[in-house]
Amino acid sequence: MKAIRRLSVMTLSSRFFLKGISQNVALYKLGHSPMSGRSSMRGYYAIKYPVLEGHAHVRVVDLRTDAVKKPGPAVLRAMGAAAGSGEVHVTELQKIAADMCGMEDALLVPTATMGNLIAVMVHCSERGDEMIVGDLSHLHMYEQGGSAQVAGVHTTTATTLPDGTFDLEQLESRIRLGYPLTYYCRTRLICLENTHNTQGGRVMPLSFLQDVRALADRYGLSVHMDGARVVNAAVAQGVPLSTILQHTHSVTISLCKVLGSPVGAILAGPRDFITRAKRCCRVLGGSMVKAGVLAAAGKVSLQHSIMMGRLEQDHRNAKIFAQGKVINFVSGNLTNQVAAMVFLFMLLLCCVLSTSRARL
Ligand SMILES: Cc1ncc(COP(=O)(O)O)c(C=O)c1O
Repeated sequence: MKAIRRLSVMTLSSRFFLKGISQNVALYKLGHSPMSGRSSMRGYYAIKYPVLEGHAHVRVVDLRTDAVKKPGPAVLRAMGAAAGSGEVHVTELQKIAADMCGMEDALLVPTATMGNLIAVMVHCSERGDEMIVGDLSHLHMYEQGGSAQVAGVHTTTATTLPDGTFDLEQLESRIRLGYPLTYYCRTRLICLENTHNTQGGRVMPLSFLQDVRALADRYGLSVHMDGARVVNAAVAQGVPLSTILQHTHSVTISLCKVLGSPVGAILAGPRDFITRAKRCCRVLGGSMVKAGVLAAAGKVSLQHSIMMGRLEQDHRNAKIFAQGKVINFVSGNLTNQVAAMVFLFMLLLCCVLSTSRARL
């Protein structure tokens, strides 16, 4: 039962943008078994994936995480064509991203972690400034406290609710009003995560975003969204990205997860914010001289994933899994969720055994 539960965490971890089992699915040779070491979503980065050698006659659908997604042919073609060319692709990507976000400007950065850190550095420009983040947010849990280590920014947490939001009264109570009394930090920033990673890919309601922004405006604070997968939120809510991001001052979007680029993230915001972000990016070592190839991939990611309905397809597949109808894909008759879990578990077990024997 424990094993089945673990499998259900893996298959239904449901960032709702896991690759599905259609032609879009990342198919991997067995050899990256996700079975070891993962006891909960919280242990996400502690997972150890044993590499099994040998040739299995089986191909598995890899549903661990969108981070294992490989660039598709369109991305690879664009990168090949861009080889040797430089700034023009970067400028174009940044313009496309800014327009999609409804922001004045955007910056290509190597990772979403760096994008978040830069946003914190720019919004909290004085050492000892404070930001409010969710206690289960990626920024708080998985980015090594970079805002404290590197930027000298103090963090206070609000409780992350199961849907990824905060209780607004609690959020307001976290804002420090004592500044400039020398005892106090100065609250400068509220960080949101949408979709929410550890809460299973939950999408923030637009009304919540509106309320947070109203609160921030009342106290003169900025709102940054860790939107590594905010494009999924837009697809799930059936709205343009800009409808979500109108409630934030800045956003980080990962290009290399659901969007299928090999590397990169976008940081978008007002023009003066991006001007200052470029300085922070440089000092962190994130200014990439020959980023044209990556930017060319990023352009395809942004334009194709949404426009060609690829993400809608991912969402449809993820919903089928989440509703326990996966077995229908396979046999067309059973619909029981437990049966589906057992089936998937057995399938995975067979794959592991088959590969282990091939190794021997
Ligand atoms: C919500 C969220 N923010 C940020 C990141 C960090 O992304 P990167 O690996 O590009 O630094 C992740 C990674 O999974 C994430 O889920």
